[in-house]
Amino acid sequence: MRAPPSLAPLADQGVIEEVICPLMSGKEADVFLVVHRGERCVAKVYKDATQRSFKHRAEYEEGRRVRDSRRQRAMTRRSRYGREMMEAAWRNAEVDAIYRLRDAGVRVPEPYDFVEGVLVMELIADAEGRPAPRLVDVTFTRREARDVFNFLLREVVKMLCAGLVHGDLSDFNVLMGADGPVIIDFPQVADAAGNRNARKLLLRDVKNLTRFLGRFDPALLNTRYGPEMWDLYERGTLEPDTPLTGRFKGPTHKANVSSLLQELEDIEREVRARRAALGLEPPGPARRPVRRAPEPEPEPEPDPDPTSPKKRRRRRRRRKPASE
Ligand SMILES: Nc1ncnc2c1ncn2[C@@H]1O[C@H](COP(=O)(O)OP(=O)(O)OP(=O)(O)O)[C@@H](O)[C@H]1O
Ligand SMILES: [Mg+2]
Repeated sequence: MRAPPSLAPLADQGVIEEVICPLMSGKEADVFLVVHRGERCVAKVYKDATQRSFKHRAEYEEGRRVRDSRRQRAMTRRSRYGREMMEAAWRNAEVDAIYRLRDAGVRVPEPYDFVEGVLVMELIADAEGRPAPRLVDVTFTRREARDVFNFLLREVVKMLCAGLVHGDLSDFNVLMGADGPVIIDFPQVADAAGNRNARKLLLRDVKNLTRFLGRFDPALLNTRYGPEMWDLYERGTLEPDTPLTGRFKGPTHKANVSSLLQELEDIEREVRARRAALGLEPPGPARRPVRRAPEPEPEPEPDPDPTSPKKRRRRRRRRKPASE
C-alpha cells in the first residue's frame, strides 16, 4: 500500500521499504505492518496529542526525570512548547522502557529504530507467521492458564527489579507469540521508586492478569502476588528469581501515633535550640499535637415504643373500629 503521511518520512529516508497494511488502530497509536531491512516488522505511530487526552497522565508521569530544566519548567506550566515536550517525553518513555526491559531480560518486542516519533520493532508472530493474537483472544486449559500466569508474573518481577511498573498491563497488552507471551505497549510505564502511584499501578497490573487467567484456573483468584511482590521490593529483597507464594498478610501492628508525635516534638525542640544557638529568630510558635479525648459514642435515641414497627402497625389495625 502507499505509505500514509505519518510513515512517508520513514519511507523517504529508506527506514522502511514497504508498508504492507495497517494492523490495528488503538487508543494511543496506529500500528502498521511494514518491511524494514528486508524483514516484516511493526511500525507504531503515536496519535497526535489533540486526538488523545492528557487525563490521568500525571499518575504515570510522576518521578520521570527531564534533565533540561527549561523543558521541565515548560512542561510544568503546560505551555504549547511544554505540551509538545510532554508529547515527546510520552513517546520516548515507551522506547526507553523497551530498551531497558530488553536489557533486563524481559521478553519485549526487539526495538529496531525510532525515527520521527515512529517506533519500528519486531513483529510478534504466531506459529504460522501471522501477527500474534492478544491474550484476550485466546482460551486456555487450567494448566496452560497457570503456566502463562507464572511466566507473566516472572516478567512483572523482572520489570520491578529493573525499576519499572507497566501501568497498563492486561489481557489486551500481552501478545501470544509462537515462543510464548510477550508484553507490549509501554508509554505509561511508571518509575517504581519515584512514582507514589507505583504500588497501586503494580497491584492493578497483577490483578488484571489474575482476573483474566483466573477464568481458566479459578485457584488463581485466591492469590495475592501483587502485594507480596511489592512488599519484597520495598524491603529491597526482590530478585528476578525470588520464589513467590501468592500468600500475603499485610502488617497487623497499628501505627504508634503518640510515639510519632513525641518524635516530632523532639525534632521541633532541637530545631529551636539550634536556631537559638545561632542567634536566629525561633521558627514561629511550636505546633502542639492535639490530643483529643475519644468522642463518646452517641447514645441511641430512646424508642418510645420498644415493639417493632410491624407489630405496632398490626396493633393499630386491631384497635380500629369494625365500621370503618
Ligand atoms: N510488536 C508487535 N507485533 C505484533 N503486533 C503488534 C505489535 N505491537 C502492537 N501490535 C498490535 O497492535 C495493537 C495495538 O498496539 P499497542 O497496544 O502498542 O497500541 P495502543 O494504541 O496502546 O493500543 P490499545 O489502545 O489497543 O492498547 C496490539 O494490540 C497488537 O495487536
Ligand atoms: Mg495497547
